[in-house]
Amino acid sequence: MASEYDVIIIGAGAAGLMCAATAGYRGRKVLVIDHANKAGKKILMSGGGRCNFTNLNSTPANFLSDNPHYCISALKRYTPQDFLELVERHGVEHEEKAAGQLFCRDSAKDILNVLLTECEWAGAEVRLKTSIADVRATDTGYRVNTSADTLTCESLVVACGGLSIPTMGATGFGYDLAKQFGLSVLPTRAGLVPFTLHPELKEQLSPLSGVSCPVDVTCHNQHFREPMLVTHRGLSGPSMLQISSYWQPGDTLSVNLLPTQIIHEDLLALRQQKPQSTVAHYLAQHLPKRFAQAYNELHGWTGPLQGYKNSDLEQVADTLGQWQIKPAGTEGYRTAEVTLGGVDTRQLSSKNMSVLERPNLYFIGEVVDVTGHLGGHNFQWAWASGVAAGNDA
Ligand code: FDA
Repeated sequence: MASEYDVIIIGAGAAGLMCAATAGYRGRKVLVIDHANKAGKKILMSGGGRCNFTNLNSTPANFLSDNPHYCISALKRYTPQDFLELVERHGVEHEEKAAGQLFCRDSAKDILNVLLTECEWAGAEVRLKTSIADVRATDTGYRVNTSADTLTCESLVVACGGLSIPTMGATGFGYDLAKQFGLSVLPTRAGLVPFTLHPELKEQLSPLSGVSCPVDVTCHNQHFREPMLVTHRGLSGPSMLQISSYWQPGDTLSVNLLPTQIIHEDLLALRQQKPQSTVAHYLAQHLPKRFAQAYNELHGWTGPLQGYKNSDLEQVADTLGQWQIKPAGTEGYRTAEVTLGGVDTRQLSSKNMSVLERPNLYFIGEVVDVTGHLGGHNFQWAWASGVAAGNDA
């Protein structure tokens, strides 16, 4: 005999748990299934262990999608303030780091506890270490064959996330299910991911490893002014993670190392006021010492500024203001925070996340083609899409 549920949710991550609690509070009999041995593993590792659980300034402009209007409705109906109220009702201490980015003060565990407690209060069951053998449509809904038994449900919600960090349980199962039910899946790629460099540049930048400085990086007319971190593998830090979501193989990044300065004018003025000064002096005023030193050596800018012609200073300014970097690639899904692309949202209802042609099948969270910027936006999408589906499933 199959166990019967109103709603089965595949994936006990951020979106799945949020959806489960919402549907449970509506009186639906809900089961969440996950193959992992723990719910919400990505929540636990997020935000350096303190989970950047939302962003108070989140707007649809913070999301990438082939169908940019899709996310608007759900994000409007469940806002960062709504999630903040939930978190505060549970007494979770939090703090705002960069503008609008809310983190737990203690541990990401607090957010997972909020979700699991809500599921418990709503009567939603969470079953871990359960693999799914197959899913079939029936006359009244779906039959799900798991490693343990056979289950049936009226509504099926697919919340199995993307491909990033396979060691945390990520699989392409959500995409496979979408294809099984005739949906198209847009090509996926790693997003919010560090860049790798060609050997020569990697070698040149190796003295800078571990150094971070605020930059303005541009690619495909998108730009981010946030810190860049040189690592022993390549380039990381918020600015690089953000731009990686827009970068395509072969693209060049333009990095302004001194985004708050008008570099050429500064250098002309410095040459006039202190002809004995050097580019290294100028850099040391504006960049971390180690970075300034190593970057200067990299470009061989020696001698006093009085020896530099206007065109030389212009060249220095261009190098600093529009440093052209061609990454070799990215670190890929192994370290990516998100997966870009996924289930094409044109086939889904923006009101409740269901498949237009199959209203009892839902796709939520990262498995769909909606990807947020760094800074709490991805969780906000998980909460908002989870609530939208949970109110309908
Ligand atoms: P999620 O990946 O959370 O959950 C999917 C679940 O489905 C998993 O539990 C998985 O085990 C399960 N599953 C997969 N395949 C299955 C199968 N075949 N059968 C059964 N179960 C299956 N975002 C943010 O806003 N702020 C932040 O601070 C961070 N930080 C961060 C750090 C790191 C290191 C990563 C990797 C990611 C982040 N993110 C983030 C992104 C954020 O974690 C991500 O967007 C959400 O977790 C997506 O939520 P979902 O519920 O869609 O997928």
